[in-house]
Amino acid sequence: MAKILQRKRLVPNIHLLEVHAPEVAQKCKPGQFVIIMPDERGERIPLTIGDWDEKKGSVTSVFLVVGTSTHKLSMLEAGDEVPVFVGPLGKPSEIEKYGTVLCAGGCFGIAAIYPIARALKEAGNKIITLLDVKANYLIYWEDKLKAVSDQFFISARDSYYDCKEYIPNTLEKIVKKEKKIDRVVSIGCTYLMYTCSEATKPYGIKTVVSLNPIMVDGTGMCGACRVTIDGKTKFACVDGPDFDGHLVDWDELFSRRKSYFEDEIQSLCYWEKETFP
Ligand code: FES
Repeated sequence: MAKILQRKRLVPNIHLLEVHAPEVAQKCKPGQFVIIMPDERGERIPLTIGDWDEKKGSVTSVFLVVGTSTHKLSMLEAGDEVPVFVGPLGKPSEIEKYGTVLCAGGCFGIAAIYPIARALKEAGNKIITLLDVKANYLIYWEDKLKAVSDQFFISARDSYYDCKEYIPNTLEKIVKKEKKIDRVVSIGCTYLMYTCSEATKPYGIKTVVSLNPIMVDGTGMCGACRVTIDGKTKFACVDGPDFDGHLVDWDELFSRRKSYFEDEIQSLCYWEKETFP
């Protein structure tokens, strides 16, 4: 069992979860994830690690409320316990001195990109951070990300921030203006990572994405997370989650992520009836 130290809503539908897991916290590296089960009847779901504190022994993730499991997670409070909290899993992100790195994140990916941006900055890179939100009230961790960025942009569809366009358009404008971007790291929903990869392809800029297929064990045993990269089958949990966005079979990934769509809706309806009769 792992104890919840903090669960709070950051913005509508997006929550932070801080779990007491000292052994996990000691080994965390940027880009890795944990597998969590909200209760004994729940499913195992992967959450990318957004931050950790070795002294406190805690691991923090940020998640979007979508189906039954994330609804259950969003109802946990400090002091509650979860039966499964395994990690850190997956290969850490590659951190080297590349030059200028553009870190593009949206939704839960805003938190997921933070430790990567921080490590890249510590490695001597110039960091341009670009966040995507539908509206300005959906932004979070702005101060944390600004602290590790040389330039900081937010692409929001309302007028409060710099850019009003969807992220690939803003990304392309930055690429054209900066002239030299050595690497792009993009984390968020599959569509965001796909469109960012498409935007950088004509410029030949290596674009790393963190894939989020359905996972079960997270250790390479079940095959649920298989993705096709450059025509070869890979398991996102052990070969990734980071891959070259220009080599991902995106059509396959979109379709595999929809495999349990109907079941997920049924599960949520059933759980809501049971929980809020
Ligand atoms: Fe089972 Fe990756 S989650 S092989």
